[in-house]
Amino acid sequence: MAKQVMFLMLTCLISISAIEADYNVLKYGAKPDGATDATEAFLRAWKAACSSAKAAMIYVPKGRYMLKAVEFRGPCKSPVTVRIDGTLVAPTDYRALGNSGYWILFRQVNKLTVVGGKLDAKGAGYWACKNSGGSCPPGARSITFNWANDIVLSGLMSINSQATHIVINSCNNAVVRNVKVIAPDQSPNTDGIHVQSSTGVTITGSTLQSGDDCISIGPGTTNLYMSHIKCGPGHGISIGSLGRDATEDGVQNVTLTNAIFTGSDNGVRIKSWARPTTSFVRNVLFQNIVMKNVKNPIIIDQNYCPNNQGCPRQSSGVKISQVTYRYIQGTSATQNAVMFDCSTSTPCQGIRLQDINLTYMNKAATSSCKNIGGTSSGLVMPQSCL
Ligand SMILES: *[C@@H]1O[C@H](CO)[C@@H](O)[C@H](O)[C@H]1NC(C)=O
Ligand SMILES: *[C@@H]1O[C@H](CO)[C@@H](O)[C@H](O)[C@H]1NC(C)=O
Repeated sequence: MAKQVMFLMLTCLISISAIEADYNVLKYGAKPDGATDATEAFLRAWKAACSSAKAAMIYVPKGRYMLKAVEFRGPCKSPVTVRIDGTLVAPTDYRALGNSGYWILFRQVNKLTVVGGKLDAKGAGYWACKNSGGSCPPGARSITFNWANDIVLSGLMSINSQATHIVINSCNNAVVRNVKVIAPDQSPNTDGIHVQSSTGVTITGSTLQSGDDCISIGPGTTNLYMSHIKCGPGHGISIGSLGRDATEDGVQNVTLTNAIFTGSDNGVRIKSWARPTTSFVRNVLFQNIVMKNVKNPIIIDQNYCPNNQGCPRQSSGVKISQVTYRYIQGTSATQNAVMFDCSTSTPCQGIRLQDINLTYMNKAATSSCKNIGGTSSGLVMPQSCL
């Protein structure tokens, strides 16, 4: 009897997904030739799907689709899935994405799932502009979710963004899973994933190779869970920069578990401006991490003040507390594998090191501590300075 009920329920579920309304972008006029502007066709498909009375699926078949800066707006009537088998490409001229700051933007869309696909923002022209020191537009983030709740981004590959590849901003309950981000080591500000002002974000099973942070965690991030992350090249996983503004939301309850950093500038970093602020970082756990030839495997830097502008001789007001590092092993590319440079005015508190084994050129590495309180337990190498 129970089996029959289960079977009925399953059939029911399967038929619900089978009758999901289907919106194929080809039917709305998109040309998969990589050159014809497909922006309007995608927007027509979006409009239809977003007003569907039942769950809707937008389908992007194999092929290359050229998209300009585009905003997919909600709220939608029903849950929407965007299934991408093709590649979305930006216009060749980087100025085409203009000053919008965004390439593909989902705004105020709830219950959205984006599955598969490849994004090629063709960022090289933009990086060349930035590196030449000329005046360049601010640069477009490749895919952004703004004010969106209950979203899933799964199986996406993003290459060569102008600025950050993936942004989760002001969202509740977001899952980023099995994504791959690739940009060259020297491409400026091409962060992998940026999370800000969001609650309940999970990032799992992802490989991030970029010219800036693999994952950057901005003000107002709470309940962030990251697992099975491969990072490098890049600047590591960074909470911050925080404390740029005098009034700013803090970051709390962040977990990173099971990660491998390879050849990155940093491993796990907390970074704040040397300026007064209301901001804070608390309840953070970094655990089960392997470092392979990482320059600063464990680092807190509260003296961030690029070009000595707006903060020289000031000290950071960001209050850092209850941060645990455990089961972290591997190799440092510099002698000082653990660096805690906390604020003179707001010292770090409740910092815990447990079972750390980091070496430098097969020898003991060192650690340094400033303005910090905490404990260590288990085997801790380099010797703890807490
Ligand atoms: C911390 O975040 C996790 C998700 O990563 C969540 O399950 C948990 O309830 C949060 N804890 C608190 C105290 O909010
Ligand atoms: C620390 O790690 C090195 C290799 O990175 C290893 O040879 C050594 O045995 C480890 N030490 C302990 C006590 O686990």
